[in-house]
Amino acid sequence: MIVSGGLGCAPFPLLVRELRQGGCADVTVLSGAATASRLYPAERFRRGDDAVRVVEATDDGSQGRRGLVTELVAGACEEAAAVYACGPNPMLAALAEALRHLAPPPQRAEVSLEAPMGCGFGTCLGCALPAAGGEWFLCCRRGPVMEVSQVDWPGLLALPPAHVA
Ligand code: FES
Repeated sequence: MIVSGGLGCAPFPLLVRELRQGGCADVTVLSGAATASRLYPAERFRRGDDAVRVVEATDDGSQGRRGLVTELVAGACEEAAAVYACGPNPMLAALAEALRHLAPPPQRAEVSLEAPMGCGFGTCLGCALPAAGGEWFLCCRRGPVMEVSQVDWPGLLALPPAHVA
């Protein structure tokens, strides 16, 4: 299962291909955006592969289901072995909350986080984000892809807006 929000679509055509070439039987892409003109074209995820299903949502209802892409998770994620997500941090936080209510949860759930990065190699500390357990981590060093359980989601959402992205 892939959850793609807005600009978060960028890594997923390649990941879909890698998953399928690695033996994944099927992939569902939940693709969301503010409006239809901002949705990544579904066929670019599918590339003619019938084992790739794309379900769309737009904030204004101009294409697919009206609402947030994370609202699709409960109905589509129940049998997913793994979930990969990329999008704005508030979307990822909503995904983390939705995954908490799945029984059983996916064996793997990874998110690609956003953080302001000044240096990209661990010296400016501008990309520090709160980790589960009360520590902080540098997104440029340990991320940006993290297991969903490793992030302090309420703490992340409480950061000033530039950090919430
Ligand atoms: S971007 Fe400077 S420490 Fe991470």
